[in-house]
Amino acid sequence: MRQEIAKILSNEEISKDIYKMEIECGLAQEAKPGQFIEITVPPFFLRRPISISEIKENTIVIIYKILGEGTKKMTEMSGDLDIFGPLGHGFEIENKDHVVLVGGGVGVPPLFQTAKEYLKNGTNVDVVLGFNDKETIFYEEEFKALGCHVYIATMDGSYGSKGTVINAIEDNQIKTDFVCSCGPLPMLKAVQNTFEAGYISLEARMACGMGACMGCVVKDQEGHSLRVCKDGPVFPIGKVVL
Ligand SMILES: Cc1cc2nc3c(=O)[nH]c(=O)nc-3n(C[C@H](O)[C@H](O)[C@H](O)COP(=O)(O)OP(=O)(O)OC[C@H]3O[C@@H](n4cnc5c(N)ncnc54)[C@H](O)[C@@H]3O)c2cc1C
Ligand code: FES
Repeated sequence: MRQEIAKILSNEEISKDIYKMEIECGLAQEAKPGQFIEITVPPFFLRRPISISEIKENTIVIIYKILGEGTKKMTEMSGDLDIFGPLGHGFEIENKDHVVLVGGGVGVPPLFQTAKEYLKNGTNVDVVLGFNDKETIFYEEEFKALGCHVYIATMDGSYGSKGTVINAIEDNQIKTDFVCSCGPLPMLKAVQNTFEAGYISLEARMACGMGACMGCVVKDQEGHSLRVCKDGPVFPIGKVVL
């Protein structure tokens, strides 16, 4: 984990209100799939947590959606970037013949490096991605180019299966005993109710991002407190009360 002044190599819109930023940084050498970085966005005091989507030798890629003032400001940034990370526990890459990666909206990005790592291990990777509509889809072709089978769901039915990722899983009769998932809470609840094994990655409002402030606490089944930023954001399916 380190703080560094990294360099923005590119920062471009890839879908409606969705941006891809390529960052040259030393922490690329330590990063694991599912981990995240904290980004300083002047003039805001609190850093913004964003997942690491792809890891290359000296660069990482992040994909972010304009949500409020901070992410809006990020779309104008170029040159130096003050970052801190890699943070949290990412996706464990287990020995599996087949894995299904289930992502929704800006939960899709951390699954990209996860897919790369599973494919490197010889695992067959199915990817199920959920979006609101056709306009907001991103990374379908990128996952296909890696060698994944990709299935899309849109809430309005304008592309792929109509409804949620669970509808796409049913429509395409996708069977598995192991999933890795990241996305909005209702989607993660549905994934946790449908599958028995694998991992989910949670989002929480964060302040320190490194386990000190207890601002991101969730409870496990026994009532113990877990910090999303430090004990997660990735947890085994069934561990956390959603
Ligand atoms: C571990 C983790 C990974 C994430 N990965 C991604 C990603 O890959 N791509 C992406 O687009 N978004 C991601 N997010 C969500 C992203 O952090 C928020 O969208 C962003 O912080 C919003 O900032 P803002 O200034 O635009 O919004 P504002 O609402 O103006 O933010 C105000 C404050 O609330 C915090 N905040 C607001 N929404 C969230 C949120 N959903 N989660 C955490 N803090 C929030 C901000 O950090 C800021 O401190 C991730 C969040 C977490 C916790
Ligand atoms: S954000 Fe401070 S403990 Fe998680």
